[in-house]
Amino acid sequence: MHEKIEKILQEANKFKPENIADLEKFRIRFLGKKGIISQLFDEFRNLPHNEKKEKGKILNELKITVREKIDKFSRALSVNRENEPSIDLTLPAEQFPEGSRHPISVVRKEIIEIFSRIGFTVSEGPEIEDDWHVFSALNFPAEHPARDMQDTFFISKNPDIMLRTHTSSVQVRVMQTTSPPIRTISPGRVFRNEAISARSHCIFHQIEGLYVDENVSFADLKQTLEFFAKELFGEETKIRLRPSFFPFTEPSGEMDVSCSCKGKGCKLCKNTGWLEVLGCGMVDPNVLRDCNIDDKKYTGFAFGLGIERIALLKYDIKDIRLYFENDVRFLNQFSAII
Ligand code: DAH
Repeated sequence: MHEKIEKILQEANKFKPENIADLEKFRIRFLGKKGIISQLFDEFRNLPHNEKKEKGKILNELKITVREKIDKFSRALSVNRENEPSIDLTLPAEQFPEGSRHPISVVRKEIIEIFSRIGFTVSEGPEIEDDWHVFSALNFPAEHPARDMQDTFFISKNPDIMLRTHTSSVQVRVMQTTSPPIRTISPGRVFRNEAISARSHCIFHQIEGLYVDENVSFADLKQTLEFFAKELFGEETKIRLRPSFFPFTEPSGEMDVSCSCKGKGCKLCKNTGWLEVLGCGMVDPNVLRDCNIDDKKYTGFAFGLGIERIALLKYDIKDIRLYFENDVRFLNQFSAII
């Protein structure tokens, strides 16, 4: 055993680590739980009593030598480290690519904020609906073309279950479950079986608005929409209402906003000075009745707009398909908008 220890001692003495990793390997080899020194101590335990004194002494010497060696090199190597070029903590951090909100989300959020300032709540309904909520309760006659296969995506072969074609279905759900006064907007996805082009898509987003109370008049509708248009497009914006037709409103209208070209004429407004923004009207008494609201006591107005279209007008986006392709070169342009 004596010779063996001498040999190990020589090896330990010769050792010169290049770096901290070398030193750590050395430490584990000699002082680790199953290392050389602990194995020697195991052997030492089985020695005859008379040999223990002498062997114990050199074994301890070995242990001390190894410890000192580790201490010495560990100090030396960390001193050397101090001379290495240090990390400059004042340098700016590496840039993370920043995410951005989708323009549809930006506009959706802005519209919700505008209407919540005048007391509208937000309500939602299912994307898969039945005929009653999408059409029948909204006064669509049975043979109305909007129910047609060409427009509506039906779920399986059941003509009663479909993807909603507009968020007006949420009006019905709200009126069925809430008694007036009702003041709510309903944002959501809608689906129509249309060919995809720069102007139309089979999936898009709408926001529906509904106000039902005693004495609600067309003047209230006009005031509300004017407030909305000015908040969204700027104080100078003018609105214009044109007569139109929707089965669930009587009278019905379409609202245009003045184009930012101020009537000079541009491509966006096709030289008319006006941009079509939404459909609206006074809730048809038939619809109130279908939803168990007393049409003698209450009146209401409703409106519906397409978010894609508003975003298109606000940011001068030329092609509706861009919203769905999620090309980061398109999306990044909205990164500054919160
Ligand atoms: N639901 C109609 C559509 O999708 C939009 C609409 C028009 C909603 C007039 C309304 C309204 O509430 O009063 O084209």
